[in-house]
Amino acid sequence: MANNGKHVLIVDDDRQVREVLHEIFLSHGYKCELANDGREGLEIFRATRPPLTVTDVKMPVMDGLEFLKSALKFDADAAVIVLTGVGDVKTAIESLKVGAYDFIIKPVNVDELLIAAERAMERRELLIERREYQALLERRVEEATRHLALTLRELQDTYRATLEALGSALDTRDVGTEAHSRRVHGYALTMARAHGLSEDEIKDIEHGVLLHDIGKIGIPDAILLKPGPLTPEEWIVMRTHPEVGRRLIERIPFLRGAVPIVYHHHERWDGSGYPLGLRGDAIPLGARIFAVADALDAMTFDRPYSKAMSYEAACREIERCAGTHFDPVVVRTFLSIPEAIFDEIRRRSLEP
Ligand SMILES: [Fe+2]
Repeated sequence: MANNGKHVLIVDDDRQVREVLHEIFLSHGYKCELANDGREGLEIFRATRPPLTVTDVKMPVMDGLEFLKSALKFDADAAVIVLTGVGDVKTAIESLKVGAYDFIIKPVNVDELLIAAERAMERRELLIERREYQALLERRVEEATRHLALTLRELQDTYRATLEALGSALDTRDVGTEAHSRRVHGYALTMARAHGLSEDEIKDIEHGVLLHDIGKIGIPDAILLKPGPLTPEEWIVMRTHPEVGRRLIERIPFLRGAVPIVYHHHERWDGSGYPLGLRGDAIPLGARIFAVADALDAMTFDRPYSKAMSYEAACREIERCAGTHFDPVVVRTFLSIPEAIFDEIRRRSLEP
């Protein structure tokens, strides 16, 4: 290959010029290839990829400008110096426009030619190095971005797993229905998507659903686990759990979006719920969606105080309560979802 990377292709139809150039470059440590015209030059260029080419302009078969265009198409980094006649400024400018590195006016001055050749090769090296550096930077940014996305995902998975564990722990303590949180979570997210909520809103709903009863931590076991019906005084205590839950999570920044569900999950569409007795659209949408998801699960699974009913019966009951207990629009969304999707969520909730 080339000596120290010094490798030049000389394209000129004038044998005498060609040999003079050959002699000059050879004596300055260049490996040389010689071509009679543009077409031959192009063949050698494609075969040997010389970093430097010196080409005449006026040649038979394929002229210097055509050669230049074709060579640059093949290798955009090619350093090409064009030899032009005295006074042929037009061709010189044209060759620079097409992408020649430089032009030399004939008769050739040896020093001028060698300096132009060195510069052309240096510039080519710089261009290649810069592009490689750019590619390296892009790869590093890409890697760092991927790593960051992975870390973020792991962090989110950790958050979710922690919340799910907490949700399951709350279920176990409360009514003994394990997987209740997981099912209601699945139902609510399915409904939220069908309702057209954004991914950010859905994430808040997800956290809210998993933590909705976290306030029951503050309810004494004697009330929470009481086998029989609660007295009016006990109900007053029981109904504080949304407020207790709100106070627990509103100071945790990544859970702040869950507050509307935790605080309002016992509100009813007609204003008969608690803690604030909000009515209609004043109840946060997440809490309205949660109410339907929670009711579906409560009705279709055995609980200590009620037997499970069929999915169809639960649908009829939810539809009957649209406009009183539930948001009618949310109920419509719920009824538009095929039962098979809820079946799948139920099946998965039983997996270990
Ligand atoms: Fe609750």
